[in-house]
Amino acid sequence: MSSNENGFQKFRNEDIVGFTCRTLSSMGSEIRRVFLLGQKLREENPNIDLVDLSLGNPDLEPPDEVRAELVRLAQENVAGAHRYMDNAGYPDVREFLSRRLELSEGVPLTRDSVFLTCGAAGALQVLLRTLLDPGDEVILLAPFFSEYRPYVTNMGAVPVIVGSDENHFPDLNQLKQALSPRTRVLIINSPNNPSGALYPESLICEIAKLLKSFREETGRVVHMVSDEPYARLLFNPSELVSVLKIYEAAWLVRSHSKDLGLAGERIGYLAWGPALARPETLNALRNSARALGFVNAPALMQRLLPRVFDASVDVLQYKKRVDAFVDILQTGGLECTRPRASFFVFPRSPMPDDNSFTEQLVEAGVLAVPGSSFGKPGYFRCSLTQPLERIIEGAHRIVRFARSKSLK
Ligand SMILES: Cc1ncc(COP(=O)(O)O)c(C=O)c1O
Repeated sequence: MSSNENGFQKFRNEDIVGFTCRTLSSMGSEIRRVFLLGQKLREENPNIDLVDLSLGNPDLEPPDEVRAELVRLAQENVAGAHRYMDNAGYPDVREFLSRRLELSEGVPLTRDSVFLTCGAAGALQVLLRTLLDPGDEVILLAPFFSEYRPYVTNMGAVPVIVGSDENHFPDLNQLKQALSPRTRVLIINSPNNPSGALYPESLICEIAKLLKSFREETGRVVHMVSDEPYARLLFNPSELVSVLKIYEAAWLVRSHSKDLGLAGERIGYLAWGPALARPETLNALRNSARALGFVNAPALMQRLLPRVFDASVDVLQYKKRVDAFVDILQTGGLECTRPRASFFVFPRSPMPDDNSFTEQLVEAGVLAVPGSSFGKPGYFRCSLTQPLERIIEGAHRIVRFARSKSLK
């Protein structure tokens, strides 16, 4: 123990934070490095003009009707409206969601195949806690949401990473090789963070076929966890693919953090098809929510959902930003696929070392995240959660920087 200037004693980090948590904290350190660099520059020069494309915090505010319903709900004087309820969520809200999901996903559902959660992250925690045992393997398709690594490791399970092509679609040969007697879960995320890629139906069918033949050969069920917080930010909504229809052991993870601009309010859900629909399934999920201490999704947000289910932030605004940004980068000679949803763009790094590129880019006034954080080095992620003029400015700075280094 050491003392600080006030004479209070201070414990060491390792006296407070366990080894496992220290290991989890070190995951995603690339994102933190960029963040810290930006912070340092801002401290040195508070007037510095940085275009911050690093954080994926959606900036479009909830639609007016969402705010109006929230006010109405808060004013309703219903007995018990703020109490605990079934960990799975209010039955009428689950019933509502099951009816709507039956229509959109094309499989029969009941209220007992829907579980309300604290966002998509809460849904993933509850589900992974339910499916995984220590030592199980979870396949992640790069590029993947950087939080998957700590989520999986936190369950004592092991992430196994499968690479992708230049469209950010998974390499199916690698996937086949990655399946092992310990594989328990495959996480897919389409529309994808960080790439904005949308897996075509044929690709999901191919993946499902691989998993089905693996089950026939080994008797082992591999669960497909389809993490879809961007499903309703598709630029062409008719492109949405139903994983529940394609694969029997599939789980749908959705949230309204992005499409209703409610990330801080924590509302999402899990849904699953008839093959997984057993009373034990629902009870196991209830127990996982209990063990993890989430207990249930926020009551007010649950009651809000049926009232505003068809509302959405203006997806066109995200599309305009994505198109403008990609146009400038491509015209400037940078390689970049055109996202089909949401607000992330994942260009190829003009330098082979994406960590070094994003560090140098900070000096050019842009914060972006290296692709290594998402399991795909050689790329960088830009989150277009800033007004259009800032996005355009950021894109020009990136192109100028690449040119100044004669990188393009
Ligand atoms: C792919 C992916 N999954 C899950 C989440 C977590 O979403 P939520 O805020 O709904 O928990 C995010 C958030 O950025 C994400 O990008």
